[in-house]
Amino acid sequence: MAEIFDLILKNGTVVTSGGIVETDIAVRNGRIADLGSFSAAKEIIDCKNLHILPGAIDTQVHFREPGLTHKEDLSTGTLSAIAGGVTTVFEMPNTDPLTITADALHDKLHRAQDRAWCDYAFFIGGCAENATDLARLEMLPGCCGVKIFMGSSTGSLLAAEDDVILSLLKSGTRRVALHAEDEERLKSRKYIAEASHDVRDHPNWRDVETALKASQRAVKLAREAGRRIHLLHITTADEMEFLSGHKDIATVEVTPQHLTLSAPECYERLGTLAQMNPPIRDRHHQEALWHAVRAGIVDVLGSDHAPHTREEKAKTYPASPGGMAGVQTILPLMLDHVSKGRLSLERLVDLLAHGPQRVYQIARKGRIAVGYDADFAVVDLNKSRAITNKWIQSKCGWTPFDGLTVMGWVRGTVLRGRLVMWEDEILGSPAGGVVSFAESQRKL
Ligand code: DOR
Repeated sequence: MAEIFDLILKNGTVVTSGGIVETDIAVRNGRIADLGSFSAAKEIIDCKNLHILPGAIDTQVHFREPGLTHKEDLSTGTLSAIAGGVTTVFEMPNTDPLTITADALHDKLHRAQDRAWCDYAFFIGGCAENATDLARLEMLPGCCGVKIFMGSSTGSLLAAEDDVILSLLKSGTRRVALHAEDEERLKSRKYIAEASHDVRDHPNWRDVETALKASQRAVKLAREAGRRIHLLHITTADEMEFLSGHKDIATVEVTPQHLTLSAPECYERLGTLAQMNPPIRDRHHQEALWHAVRAGIVDVLGSDHAPHTREEKAKTYPASPGGMAGVQTILPLMLDHVSKGRLSLERLVDLLAHGPQRVYQIARKGRIAVGYDADFAVVDLNKSRAITNKWIQSKCGWTPFDGLTVMGWVRGTVLRGRLVMWEDEILGSPAGGVVSFAESQRKL
């Protein structure tokens, strides 16, 4: 008698690590049980004419809970994730209070329990106050690693000086994620934004040198400390050229916003809605980011989902905060880039699943392979549809991509063997759980 599985995804075209193949996927106990041809299961999803990708892993989201829940919370943020085919998120520490202690991490884990719609882990913020405790904190279950803000962005988390950054890098072993903008240069140039009140000056204030200088300092300090680093949202041609020479120690993230929007057009059309840190720059830099994607310099795509309300965004620049929603649009936007031939579907999966797994040493995720978690994004590469504010599940209720028609859409999302979204409908109840890591060796 044929084996009974919990779930079979039937007739799909599957992006496996061995290539793109037509195969069924059999699931048992939340994990991929087998690839092949199967027919006996409690539930069968027909995926004819659809592609099945590993669920996207978004390793940079700001879900604002606790403290800033008027713009997002762990429920709405994770709902937005599954609506867009994202099955795992790593959440940032610039909440209120900051996530810089074990208590603050436990509080987030407690809040996420029974409310998160996708799997999750949380960053611990690295700062002078917790420097001596970081090696312990980064190994706590539910922690994906340490995040350092070298330059001020939203919130008060900051480690600007070399001696502080070095002490943080010397405490612990896991790869450290950094926001690389040079604080001193940011402060000395802020007059530019304050004089003009024109958001088109955002990339002039936070200029190429501000980013390059910080990335160079980060790599130098990482070498001194003997610590691997991950540079978040890299935005310049100059940094990509520099970082291509340091692949042994530094991995690299880019965002879909920086690959899709460009200055000055985005500021003229969207005003402060296009304001983020580091800034969206001109086409010269955007082309260099695409080159870096194609050349393999980039390891990971992250959304930097950073929602703010429309009222907050309506403040006069530079009082307006930097950031925009992104977790729900990361996959549709990138599928559209695939349809336009800017990267292959395999490379997209590398950037949204294999790359995050490799950089953060995630256990059992990021591949469609036997024994891995049954996390999938079921996508229709031939579906053209407009991204709209109405579709956005994030509490902020807007996206800079409102009205943009993309080719390629997420039909369904499967989280550890449960269908949690199908054709825009959210199914069941929040079933998100804590991500395990090979490096921390906990809860495997
Ligand atoms: O634009 C940004 N917004 N960049 C960051 O680094 C932080 C984020 C936020 O939390 O709003």
